[in-house]
Amino acid sequence: MTKPVHSSGSFTLGTTDPLTVYRLGFGAMRITGAGIWGDPPDHDVAIRVVREAVDLGVDFIDTADSYGPFVSEDLIREALHRGGSDPYGGVIIATKGGLTRHGPDEWASVGRPEYLRQCVHMSLRRLGVDRIDLWQLHRIDPQVPEEDQLGVIKEMQDEGLILHVGLSEVSIEELERARQVMEIVSVQNLFHAGLRQSEALLDHCTEQGIGFIPWFPLGNRALVAADGPLAAIAARHDCTPAQVALAWLLQRSPVMLPIPGTGSLEHLRENCDAALVTLDDAAMAELAQAVETA
Ligand SMILES: NC(=O)c1ccc[n+]([C@@H]2O[C@H](COP(=O)([O-])OP(=O)(O)OC[C@H]3O[C@@H](n4cnc5c(N)ncnc54)[C@H](OP(=O)(O)O)[C@@H]3O)[C@@H](O)[C@H]2O)c1
Repeated sequence: MTKPVHSSGSFTLGTTDPLTVYRLGFGAMRITGAGIWGDPPDHDVAIRVVREAVDLGVDFIDTADSYGPFVSEDLIREALHRGGSDPYGGVIIATKGGLTRHGPDEWASVGRPEYLRQCVHMSLRRLGVDRIDLWQLHRIDPQVPEEDQLGVIKEMQDEGLILHVGLSEVSIEELERARQVMEIVSVQNLFHAGLRQSEALLDHCTEQGIGFIPWFPLGNRALVAADGPLAAIAARHDCTPAQVALAWLLQRSPVMLPIPGTGSLEHLRENCDAALVTLDDAAMAELAQAVETA
């Protein structure tokens, strides 16, 4: 059976032990409770969302130890882990560490090497794997020397605990400094049709063949509202504004790996079908500049 996500095309992360994934992934931050804190309102729906994402062709799932905290990783394991030497059946689970949680919507960076090491060991245990496919430093902690944070990540990669390394919310300069230490296969920065402050980083990643994972790809509700700024393009393409937002990302760069997040089966299906939408040249020209949202 043809799976919609397969129409998004593929991208290969890394040059040593490369991993190829379909470009449209799934962000597993929204399967937790409100404020990304605690359990989801409906546990069974959260499990169904994760399983259906894979049924629709997703083979790249983004999560973090801090989502819940721990809830998102635990739910992914419950939904998908099937034991054996390839417990996720080829689905790449990309997790992160380096942010602590003190309550709903509260996030604090801790980049001390011993804490980052603990993050990796605990994610390995929760996900039930011997090695993490892609481990991303959630934030560079400004209070800890950058070289200490990068150094321990490189050590853990050399020890075989991590296959590939990614960064999150970084500048081009930070990315390039990290690349002096080890291969960085992806960066994850805030980016959507209405907010483009990471555009120079995206262009840099495109030139360098580094995966660019835009978080918050659907932006605020105003961006994808039925009567919002993407509505006319959506009507012309017989799709929804959210699908326009995702299709634009996929067409914007071959290194773009959107990971729309949702706790809703309906939104999941809609988002996966965005891989089937091709925006015309007029739409791409119209979206070349950041879209104004209320
Ligand atoms: N690196 C970082 O610092 C960082 C920060 C934030 C997020 N992330 C990652 O990026 C992923 C995506 O970011 P995100 O979840 O914040 O933003 P998003 O994917 O843009 O989703 C934003 C909101 O849109 C809603 N939504 C989803 N599909 C929709 C649709 N088709 N129509 C209308 N609304 C829809 C979701 O709520 P419903 O549940 O109601 O659908 C969600 O609350 C996260 O899941 C997480 O894995 C990373």
